[in-house]
Amino acid sequence: MTPVIEVQNLTKTYPDGTQAVRSISFHVEEGEIFGFLGPNGAGKSTTIKMLITLLRKTSGDMRIMGLDVDANPDAVRRLIGYAAQEVGVDDDLTARENLLLQGELFHMDRNTLHRRTDELLNLMDLAGDAHRPAGSFSGGMRKRLDLATGLIHQPRVLFLDEPTTGLDPQNRANLWVYLERLNKQENLTIFLTTHYMEEADKLCQRLAIIDQGQIKTIGSPRQLKQEIGGDVIILRFANNGQSVAQQSEQAQTVLGDAPFISGIDRFDEGLNVYTRNGGEAVADVLRLLDARGLRVAQLSLSNPSLDDVFLKHTGSKIRDEAPMQNWRNVRGGPFGRRR
Ligand SMILES: Nc1ncnc2c1ncn2[C@@H]1O[C@H](COP(=O)(O)OP(=O)(O)O)[C@@H](O)[C@H]1O
Ligand SMILES: [Mg+2]
Repeated sequence: MTPVIEVQNLTKTYPDGTQAVRSISFHVEEGEIFGFLGPNGAGKSTTIKMLITLLRKTSGDMRIMGLDVDANPDAVRRLIGYAAQEVGVDDDLTARENLLLQGELFHMDRNTLHRRTDELLNLMDLAGDAHRPAGSFSGGMRKRLDLATGLIHQPRVLFLDEPTTGLDPQNRANLWVYLERLNKQENLTIFLTTHYMEEADKLCQRLAIIDQGQIKTIGSPRQLKQEIGGDVIILRFANNGQSVAQQSEQAQTVLGDAPFISGIDRFDEGLNVYTRNGGEAVADVLRLLDARGLRVAQLSLSNPSLDDVFLKHTGSKIRDEAPMQNWRNVRGGPFGRRR
């Protein structure tokens, strides 16, 4: 079976020399929710914009449903839906009018368009509010309407750039339910980017960890966490005459030889220590550090999270800060809203 998305050695260097995407390769199978997890500036939006024909690649190969994206941009646009990070609905129009308008941009025939509009209003639980202007909607409802407009032409694959950034945690979790519903009920393949580990963990069947324009690893969340193995003891140090970095370095040396420790990663404030049986190892870790006069400021014991996976593959922790988007809402053409 042909994958829905196939990307080989895709590269983007912006005119100012920024190497935003550096020879990435991945594929997405039909019906998958596939994610790019990475911090601000990793190259997520750049990749999405190339795939949806809004930005030219520097080199490499992109195929959607077997079609070369650059050679067949119009055909590709009919196969894909897109929702930008910023909601692009028209606040003066009702929910229904937003959907109808978007369908007209795709030259959908009247009957199909009305059937599809009703279907999406139901699917997104907006049928009861279909005649209200979008401007009167809550943030979560506007986001759902925005998703629906991206799906009016019944695309085979939906691209979502940071779909829940800007939503509060409750609306975020709520939107996940709708994305899962679309994935299942419409057998919709979804490609999304996120800097939220929890989102990638919850939604994605497979994900790629992307940092500085490169894919560091690809797998299911479960597989990636299992690769770390065992438990993680997270040690943090505080400035106490000696710098945090010095203490971390010494601790790494002290613990590095311990037979019950399978690996150590250092981050800004301390260390991730991997061990088969964390509960037993904690006391030994503290004893070894104490013998060298190293005082741990904070210790936690957990199963590996995607944050630990990220650290392992990139050498730093992903930060859950709100990303500053540096590109405008690029809706236009078939993705666009009039006005
Ligand atoms: N139009 C542009 N011109 C030059 N550099 C850009 C442009 N857009 C993005 N970049 C840079 O490319 C890198 C990747 O950006 P982006 O794809 O937006 O990352 P992400 O979406 O993961 O935050 C960043 O260093 C960013 O500053
Ligand atoms: Mg981005």
